[in-house]
Amino acid sequence: MPGTCVVGLQWGDEAKGKIVDLLGDGFDYVVRYNGGANAGHTVVVHGKTFKLSLLPTGVIRPNVKSVIGNGVVVYPPKFIEEVAGLKAAGIDLSESLKISDHAHVIFPYHMEEERLAESGAEGKIGTTGRGIGPCYQDKVGRRFGIRVGELLRPDHLRERLRFVVPFKNRLMKAFANGHADQLVPMEPDAITDQYLGYADALRPHVADTSRLLHEALAAGKRVLFEAAQGSLLDVDHGTYPYVTSSSSLPSGIWGGSGVPAKNVQRIIGVVKAYTTRVGKGPFPTELDDGPTGTGERIRKVGREYGTVTGRPRRVGWFDSVAVRYTAALAGADEITVMLLDVLSGLPELKLCTAYEVDGERVTHFPSDSYQLDRCRPVYETIQGWTEDLTAVRKLTDLPAAARRYIDRVGELVGLPVSVVSVGPDRAQTILVK
Ligand code: IMP
Repeated sequence: MPGTCVVGLQWGDEAKGKIVDLLGDGFDYVVRYNGGANAGHTVVVHGKTFKLSLLPTGVIRPNVKSVIGNGVVVYPPKFIEEVAGLKAAGIDLSESLKISDHAHVIFPYHMEEERLAESGAEGKIGTTGRGIGPCYQDKVGRRFGIRVGELLRPDHLRERLRFVVPFKNRLMKAFANGHADQLVPMEPDAITDQYLGYADALRPHVADTSRLLHEALAAGKRVLFEAAQGSLLDVDHGTYPYVTSSSSLPSGIWGGSGVPAKNVQRIIGVVKAYTTRVGKGPFPTELDDGPTGTGERIRKVGREYGTVTGRPRRVGWFDSVAVRYTAALAGADEITVMLLDVLSGLPELKLCTAYEVDGERVTHFPSDSYQLDRCRPVYETIQGWTEDLTAVRKLTDLPAAARRYIDRVGELVGLPVSVVSVGPDRAQTILVK
């Protein structure tokens, strides 16, 4: 399999990192093609825990080369911090990690712009505050975008920032709406000096990563694409406007890395056994049932708090309407069901099989968020189980009710379940095929 993609089929945080880890030595390159430091994954290296948000999860595997593709937006201090943290733990990425010269750079004004926009009374998205949206806006707007390659040309960078920053200062004033006098204007030369410092650290990693990947594929190397966020956060096909600003579906691979789709032969869709979401937006199966309710219980047992922002995640039942939709968009060949152990002890479980809207039953995912907001879930109830699942390693050893739950999830989504995860550890895994 030259190309494999691991993609989340819900609203992110589906534990994709564990699947990447399970693929083990099955690939030579690992590539991120979308998003930035808004993603969050926890990796354990020699007993030490790291929270990575910009580097791909696969970066920690020995002999694997890592690529941050052109579709990623890069905040240089984060890149430097994560590379240094891993180096201190004995993982030297100086030769093995490449970053596209076409990737766009996040500057302090992107974060400030986002902070001001999100602190207004209206139009909040509930973003991670990492400057992701404003940076992508500048990328497609073209006038103000600055790419990684441009950081390596000092005079050019200074000139660009002298053009961009005064405009951004005016924009931030407009966003500050009534508090403009409290804003301290940003200084283009100070930002240039700061980013030229970062450029020195980035320089050895900067490359034409599309060509590098073309050459790797031509040489028969195996490439793993790690999608960041989840498919329902995809800017085109997700629950717009409550989405991220990039293509988080596998459709983003071609644009975000330069690797044509025909090279990606296996698409692994990752889902939780329930659903979570961070930030605003419609969520038909949300369990908003108070501090003693099932939602809070799942949140506690599943430790459902954002890796990047620490925000409590919204929690709900598994939504097969949504996952059928994203599995089709992703072209998923199989699904892996994560965190099944978290559901132990609940007397009964619910699976959403359809929605009801205006008195009618629909089995397709509505094409816009406003419609989705009006959908009410139609549930099928499945008996729960009391047993702890964390030591189960074979499908046949699962309690009958848990087995029925997994079978039904696969049936409703219409795809084979290839992996069931029953705990965070690599060993706490049921390999179905
Ligand atoms: P942004 O990507 O920071 O612009 O945030 C847009 C939306 O995507 C917000 O609802 C975030 O909570 C959500 N989001 C972004 N990255 C992730 C992620 O890695 N996991 C889950 N949600 C995310």
